[in-house]
Amino acid sequence: MANITRRIGLSLGADICWPICYEELFRQLDLSIPHGKDKLSFEVERVFIEPFNLQQPCKYDVVIDRLTHWYHMSREWIKKSILMNDLYVFNNPWSLTSMEKHTSYCAMMRLGFPVPETWLIPPKEYVDSADLQSTLTRYAKLFDLGAIGDQIGYPMFMKPYDGGAWVGVTAIKDREALHKAYDISGTRVMHLQKGVKDHDAFVRCIGLGPQWRCVNYDPAAPLHDRYRMDTDFLPTSEQIKLQDMTMVINAFFGWDFNSCESLRSNGEWALIDFANACPDSQVTSLHFHFPWLIKANLRWSIFCAATKRKVSADLNWHKYFKIADSDRSFDEKLAEYVKIAHEHFDIENFEEFCAKHLSHLDEVADEFFGSDTVRDAINQKVKALYPEHEIDEFTELFWSRIQDWRRQGGE
Ligand SMILES: Nc1ncnc2c1ncn2[C@@H]1O[C@H](COP(=O)(O)OP(=O)(O)O)[C@@H](O)[C@H]1O
Ligand SMILES: [Mg+2]
Repeated sequence: MANITRRIGLSLGADICWPICYEELFRQLDLSIPHGKDKLSFEVERVFIEPFNLQQPCKYDVVIDRLTHWYHMSREWIKKSILMNDLYVFNNPWSLTSMEKHTSYCAMMRLGFPVPETWLIPPKEYVDSADLQSTLTRYAKLFDLGAIGDQIGYPMFMKPYDGGAWVGVTAIKDREALHKAYDISGTRVMHLQKGVKDHDAFVRCIGLGPQWRCVNYDPAAPLHDRYRMDTDFLPTSEQIKLQDMTMVINAFFGWDFNSCESLRSNGEWALIDFANACPDSQVTSLHFHFPWLIKANLRWSIFCAATKRKVSADLNWHKYFKIADSDRSFDEKLAEYVKIAHEHFDIENFEEFCAKHLSHLDEVADEFFGSDTVRDAINQKVKALYPEHEIDEFTELFWSRIQDWRRQGGE
């Protein structure tokens, strides 16, 4: 019997709290998993940014990546390691950087998902380049912004086609405001999207591998209160539908970790933002939901490392389109998409694996999230974000919310 080591790398940026908790809880799980005649043990390490030979081996089986979106160096090392060394990474770097919000809208509209009417408009200004003037003079059509606005109707939202983090998002109430917003939009290519009026629910559904959590979200609240702590705010059927739609989006694009924002108006859900490359992972945003994320991250990364899961190199979109183009209701289509997504996430094997090898996770995690290590991790993150005089107050607040999570059964 041989002992085989699987290695998980954490490719990190400003992350402080979640890697501390992930690493320590991993250690406490003390895993030794039978694998044929052998045993698997695991090591977790942080990945460093350094020169690399394109032919060099990669020591990791799985990398949890938080940098690809911003650091070319890390992204190219990850691509090399997927192509040359069969590394599994969440998220898939090609899919992450080429499927902007716009692509995600188009694809999900094609599948019949409830995405509000959306237009893409040419930018107000262009960055100067050699052929710019001759191209624009020949081919850029003058257009009537006001007429497009009237067609979409008000309120509407103007937002970057590749947006994120609320940058450049404007709520627009009439024609005049539309012109004003466009005039100052500069070189960014913008969407105009029909506003979802009078919504009575805003949900962020977080997907990590084949695990989902619908969180009640209040975008108007201060940062530490946006993720609400109520867990029973949705009828089961609506929760399942939102989870199913998130599952299909993530399977379609090959994303392991993403969150999907939906609004409910007049009993109908509209999906407004579901290409979130680097979802909130910090205790200062997630607090009560933070332990769920750590546990979900552990389960999926351990499963992927143990089973040597492969990044899917193919897009396989045609099987979805075949269903999309068939004569079925959206709910019937969704049920078919879900079958493909189930297979993509290897759900049965994943659940069996967790039941067999990670059944002690809940108990170990419950004790861990009451420990000084967690309190200290919270404190470190709070220190990095809050002014001196608020550090104790907010450390206590996030800590107490995690204790609430434990008291409520640690789900
Ligand atoms: N179509 C819409 N209807 C209603 N509210 C919207 C709509 N689009 C965006 N918003 C509001 O603007 C916020 C930011 O827009 P979003 O598309 O989520 O951009 P980002 O990718 O920057 O998060 C949303 O959280 C929501 O509050
Ligand atoms: Mg958003």
